[in-house]
Amino acid sequence: MRKIDIFDTTLRDGEQAPGCRLNAKEKLEIAHQLARLGVDVIEAGFAASSPGDYKAIKTIAKEVRGPVITALARGVKEDIIAAAEAVNPAERPRIHIVVSSSNIHLETKMRKSGETVLQMGIDSVRYARNLCGEVEYSPEDASRADPDYLCRTLEEVIKAGATVVNIPDTVGFAVPGEWHQMFSDLRNRVPNIDQARISVHCHNDLGMAVANSLEAVRAGVEQVEGCFNGIGERAGNASLEEIIMAIHLHPDYCRAYTTINLKEIYPTCYLVSKYTGLPIPRNKAVVGGNAFAHASGIHQDGVLKDHRNYEIITPDLIGLDSRDIVLTARSGRSALNFRLSSLGYCLSPKELEDVYRNFLQMADRKKEIFDEDLRAIMGE
Ligand code: KIV
Ligand code: ZN
Repeated sequence: MRKIDIFDTTLRDGEQAPGCRLNAKEKLEIAHQLARLGVDVIEAGFAASSPGDYKAIKTIAKEVRGPVITALARGVKEDIIAAAEAVNPAERPRIHIVVSSSNIHLETKMRKSGETVLQMGIDSVRYARNLCGEVEYSPEDASRADPDYLCRTLEEVIKAGATVVNIPDTVGFAVPGEWHQMFSDLRNRVPNIDQARISVHCHNDLGMAVANSLEAVRAGVEQVEGCFNGIGERAGNASLEEIIMAIHLHPDYCRAYTTINLKEIYPTCYLVSKYTGLPIPRNKAVVGGNAFAHASGIHQDGVLKDHRNYEIITPDLIGLDSRDIVLTARSGRSALNFRLSSLGYCLSPKELEDVYRNFLQMADRKKEIFDEDLRAIMGE
């Protein structure tokens, strides 16, 4: 069993989600919550992007204890200096450098040769290592990069002092089987790979960010990056609450564990949604409003007899206090009886039968039956 480090980038990549902006106070509060949750690394921002973000990172680095605090930098001196200064007050600071690696990025975005960009990466890592003990290197768009070039890049940046190498699927292009193979290949082909920790960073453009992250875990990575509620650029980043729960429920399959305090998952997701203004979709895995709501009669009866019939996670495991028994026209007598008894009604089987008939008539007209509807049916 290997311990997987959880690298949270909600405050950096997550905040890049269209329509989302966090102020310094909100970022600090979320960072404290991430520390309570027990993430291993917090990417607090992109220091060179604005004076506000620089200040927010520095405050987090000063005040939040426990996790490594990192900040993003492009492969240029000004960015690296800004990141180094911003994270300097942290217990364990880290600089995170990103430099392009795919042909399309080299040719059309950087407009530089592969050799020039590789040298830029090496120089950046050397420079950053003089300013900070931990340096993470991300070859951007690695999933579309030429594998030979990617292997050479990783070998050289590790020689230059990178302590973590992070492999990003920047555009969410990867598919699980090939992605697994890619990590196995990197471990075989990069001779000094054991001298750095390997990390994965997936985006969700094809809806496979979590599956791809888990495959990378199975292929041996030691750090997984993502955001709570799966927020981030375009279709978002890998959803950390889903990855954490998948590893928790399938430790043998993943051959791994995390040290996350699971009870803080829901409070974290709630806080992120509150401050980003991005609502959690009702059907969102793990933390959506419907994740513990049971509506069909068969399921309600099963859950009320033993929740394990239809739940693989209990609400209290992730810090929620209750499950929802939703009353609709598809609900059965046991669900109705359960909700009535929680309102203080104690019915004989014959009374329940009469009330159930009235309930179905009302439920056929309405989408959902609430407590006040039940009271009306009971003649209050
Ligand atoms: O998606 C990406 O490539 C990134 C890097 C900075 C890791 O966010
Ligand atoms: Zn990203």
